[in-house]
Amino acid sequence: MTIRVVFVCLGNICRSPMAEAVFADMVNKAGLSDQITVDSVGTGHWHVGGPAHEGTQKVLRAHGINFEHVVRQIDASDLRDADYLIAMDHKNLADIRRLGPTDAVVSLLLDYADGVDETEVPDPYYTGEFDYVYELVVAGCQGLLDHIREKEGIRT
Ligand code: 4NP
Repeated sequence: MTIRVVFVCLGNICRSPMAEAVFADMVNKAGLSDQITVDSVGTGHWHVGGPAHEGTQKVLRAHGINFEHVVRQIDASDLRDADYLIAMDHKNLADIRRLGPTDAVVSLLLDYADGVDETEVPDPYYTGEFDYVYELVVAGCQGLLDHIREKEGIRT
């Protein structure tokens, strides 16, 4: 069985693609890429078909993470197929809920982060703080991977 994790933000150009790349890198390094698949989507349609924001590309490059991205908007298949829909902020959560019922776990990325004061990942599209967002995303992704391994009984 493959566990499907989908990160969700507003535009799918800054935060959720960064989380997708960071989490996929962790999953790869843990040797779990055949057991956990990773994707990201936006609740908005504005950037569909385009690349990640230059700020997100830059911070990923700086940390040696390779990443190809085409922006996608969330749709019914995500609600149907995802096991985890991981939102960056409360607005994303509310927007996911508004789309309809899902059997996926729907939660905030920073629910899984240890030692972090924030509950939401602030939007660097407005703040420009891509390095700070990277730190938060790493903390959230580490906690999320630990949580999934524990909950799904993945031991390797
Ligand atoms: P993201 O940031 O949700 O982290 O991808 C945003 C990107 C684009 C817009 C808003 C937020 N926008 O309004 O175009």
